[in-house]
Amino acid sequence: MANPYLSDPGIRMDIVEHLPYLESQAAQSQLVIEFGVEYGNGSTLALMNGLRQVQGDKLMISVDVDDRMTLERKPVESYWKFILGNSSCVRVYNEALVFVNEVWPGGKKADIIFIDSYHVLYQVKDEINLWISLSDNDTIWLFHDIWDNISDQELEFSLGIRAFALSNGYKYEVVSPLCNGLSKMSK
Ligand SMILES: C[S@@+](CC[C@H](N)C(=O)[O-])C[C@H]1O[C@@H](n2cnc3c(N)ncnc32)[C@H](O)[C@@H]1O
Repeated sequence: MANPYLSDPGIRMDIVEHLPYLESQAAQSQLVIEFGVEYGNGSTLALMNGLRQVQGDKLMISVDVDDRMTLERKPVESYWKFILGNSSCVRVYNEALVFVNEVWPGGKKADIIFIDSYHVLYQVKDEINLWISLSDNDTIWLFHDIWDNISDQELEFSLGIRAFALSNGYKYEVVSPLCNGLSKMSK
């Protein structure tokens, strides 16, 4: 099937091959959490496009240490929340929890946690260990930039995620090696 994102001249090319997949996953979700937004012309756009197709309560929380989104890429929907800060920081997690509890006072676990922030093992492990309380057995964790396109090798941080996943009872699979690779961790 043709990838509709390829016809957007402002799209982020190093993730473009994954955008239809991200959209389709978000279209089956209610709570989506994203680390690493940058200009908003990649994962944020696709995940929001998916969530726009969902009826009822929904929420997407995007986290980045910088706010570099251009105005035209910034989602206008009230169910999109941006948190400026480090995704491994407890303050950021607590802010996210407030947003989640506003929509679901009884609590809700994330359907998707998409990680595309600082690609080193200690950061990603800190993110997983912090946000795992907002996950359950149905949560899918997605990781972008796992791949070194020159050597076709998984990077040190993704080998670390794979090891973490397998030793903690998760399944781990490479969704696609294109565009620096996308992997998935799930129960
Ligand atoms: C590769 S870009 C994200 C691209 C985006 N996902 C897309 O599809 O266009 C990485 C982003 O992660 C952000 N970042 C780096 N370290 C971070 C951290 N510790 N916490 C949150 N965001 C971080 C950077 O500011 C940058 O915007």
